[in-house]
This record gives sequence, structure tokens and C-alpha cells, in this order.
Amino acid sequence: MLVGVPKEIKNHEYRVGLVPAGVRELVHHGHQVLIESGAGAGIGFEDDDYVQAGASIAPDAGTVFEQAEMIVKVKEPQASERAMLRYDQALFTYLHLAPDLAQTKDLIASGSICIAYETVTDGFGRLPLLAPMSEVAGRMSIQAGAMCMEKSHGGNGILLGGVPGVAQGHVVILGGGVVGQNAAQMAVGMGARVTIIDRSLDVLRQIDRQFGNRVQTLYSTQDAIVSQVMNADLIIGSVLIPGASAPKLVSAEMVREMRTGTVVVDVAIDQGGCFETSIATTHDNPTYIKDGVVHYCVANMPGAVARTSAAGLNNATLPYVLELADKGIRAALKSNAHLLAGLNVYQGKVTNASVGSAHNIESIDPASALAA
Ligand SMILES: NC(=O)c1ccc[n+]([C@@H]2O[C@H](COP(=O)([O-])OP(=O)(O)OC[C@H]3O[C@@H](n4cnc5c(N)ncnc54)[C@H](O)[C@@H]3O)[C@@H](O)[C@H]2O)c1
Repeated sequence: MLVGVPKEIKNHEYRVGLVPAGVRELVHHGHQVLIESGAGAGIGFEDDDYVQAGASIAPDAGTVFEQAEMIVKVKEPQASERAMLRYDQALFTYLHLAPDLAQTKDLIASGSICIAYETVTDGFGRLPLLAPMSEVAGRMSIQAGAMCMEKSHGGNGILLGGVPGVAQGHVVILGGGVVGQNAAQMAVGMGARVTIIDRSLDVLRQIDRQFGNRVQTLYSTQDAIVSQVMNADLIIGSVLIPGASAPKLVSAEMVREMRTGTVVVDVAIDQGGCFETSIATTHDNPTYIKDGVVHYCVANMPGAVARTSAAGLNNATLPYVLELADKGIRAALKSNAHLLAGLNVYQGKVTNASVGSAHNIESIDPASALAA
């Protein structure tokens, strides 16, 4: 199969659909890979690295879209990219169609086969192509939060790990899933005192097994949340109710009563945030101060560490890219129900019920769409 990778064109997006190591695997499986010139340059992968991995270099995105049977990307296609998609061409990338009617309509009109990273499932009911970005964001939340605790950023001037004879900082993590556990790992590593609050006893048991007495686990009640956040130096918001907006676990009134210089990092901001006072920010201007509390609410945290994020994402997507290329798009989708769950639009039909109902567009079951 001829697999194409255009350069990402979304603002400040430096990740790339395939890193050279992934290209080498595809070539090893007998496939051809066409990379747009400069696609990996933002994260240190030059055209020559791709050529050495066995890829051909295309001068522009138009050539990639014209020739490739499957396009592999990172972010949802922008309008100019959607205009280049062809009937029956496969597109494998993050799509996030539910809040994006214009994109949904364009993908329907293109007649292409659109498989979204974010709805591919695994045998444990998880979303394996979302997890690597949650790992990145979780680890980064402590790094970003520790920086915000410095006086010059409006923080309370406490060093997370303390020093001998001086108490360390207290990190409270709301939601102990992928983001929360990765945040805990970094916070423990930096010597902080760490508390995780979750509403799932199974999650709390797992954290207890993993961290032992290095992390305090608490069941999520209003009492637990109020008492912990009032005594925290750094609070990480990492709750998720799949498919729904994040619950507002911390009210504006609670924020008003927090100690001056407390830092909140609301990782769940991409789902609306779990602090009532959270407003999405960008890497250009990541923080603001509200009632003396420093808020960091960047919705695309992994973009700041694009090289690590691209490699982590590629590790997760590569098995699926290989399966699609090796078996052919339709045969791969038919033989793997988890990959089929990623099919959002197929030759002019919406094949994901949530996307259909979000836009009031009729959707059909992906298996029936393939059989038709
Ligand atoms: N800002 C970013 O750049 C970025 C990057 C990656 C992920 N995220 C977001 O981070 C959030 C967390 O993602 P994840 O992969 O860790 O999800 P996850 O499903 O692995 O974990 C979420 C946890 O929240 C818990 N939870 C739900 N309701 C709760 C409540 N009321 N009280 C306490 N705990 C509760 C769940 O039990 C679960 O353990 C998501 O919104 C995700 O989209 C943001």
C-alpha cells in the first residue's frame, strides 16, 4: 500500500503522523511511504532521515493526497486538506467530529474512509490511541505546576520536594486514571506529598498497589475534595466521564477560599474543565490568576513536548497502521472490531452513533456500512 504523510498545518502543531522508525516498519512490510518535505522538521526529523528509513519525499501536500491510498496524520484535517481527500481514500488520524459540523460535512462529501484515533477501542474497554497523550499530559502537569509554584509565576514559593528539615509541597490529584497516575508518578519522583481522589474503588485499589504508602488515596466525596484542596499547594484536575463534560468538582467559592498562591492545573479542560473558574489557555499564554490562585488550563498540553508526544503516539498507532496496510483497509476493519470502532465516516455515511446524534445526521452501523 502507498501510505502518505502530509506536514501538519494546524497552528503550533509540530507532531507528525509517522516518525522515521514507523516508516522503516512499513517499508519492511513491503509498503511504500510518501512524506511531505519538512513534515518532521519541527521535531528534528529531516527529509534525509525519512529517506534513510525508506520513504520518498513529496514536494507538497497535494502530491501526498493525490497519490496515497491511506493518509496518516495527527490532527483533524483542516479545510484545505479536506478538499484534497478522494473517494475511497483512507484517513487515519484524530478527528473529534462531534463538536465539528463543518468537518463532518466535508468528510461525508469527500467519500473517503475516515478512521478516528480517539474512538478505536481495546479489549479492556479503553481507548488505546488516547492513552499516550494522557500519559504525556499527566507527566507534564507536574512539571508545569511546579514551575507555576515559583513566586515569579504567582505561586506560593514552595519547592515540591522540600529540602531536609523543610516540609515538601502537597499535590492533590482529582481523578486517578491515566493522567492522574502519571501525574502521581512524577510528583512522587519529585518528593512531593501526594493525595489522589477518585470515585472508583477499583482505581484507588490499583493506585494503592502501585504506589503503596507513597500516595494517599481518598474516595471522591465533597468532604474529601473540600478538605484536600484547601490544604494543597498544587491541584491537578484529571477527571473524565467518557462522552460527557467534566464534572465541576471545585466551585468558584472553593477557589476563593484557597490559600493565595495555590496552583491548579486543569488537564480536563479539553472536556470543559473540573474547576468552575477554568478557562482554556494556550501555550503562548498558559496561565492566569483568579482570586490569588494560579490557573494553568492548556487544552493541548502534549503539543509543547511534540517530539516525545509524536513518538509516543506513533508507538500506539503503528500496529493499527500496519494492520490497515497489510490486510487492506476493508479487510482490516472487517476483521478487527476494535479498529472498526474507529470508523466514523465511510463513503459518504456517518458510522459513529455519537457523531450522528451530535449533528442530527443519520448514522449507520459501521459493519453494515462495510457490508453494503
Ligand atoms: N489538556 C490536555 O492536553 C489533555 C491531554 C490528554 C488528556 N486530557 C484529558 O484529561 C482527562 C483525563 O483523562 P484520562 O485519560 O486520565 O481519563 P481516565 O478515564 O483514564 O481517568 C479519569 C478518572 O476520573 C475519575 N472520575 C470520574 N468522575 C470523578 C469524580 N466525580 N471524582 C473523582 N474522580 C472521578 C474516573 O473514575 C477515572 O479514574 C480527560 O478529560 C482527557 O481528555 C487532556
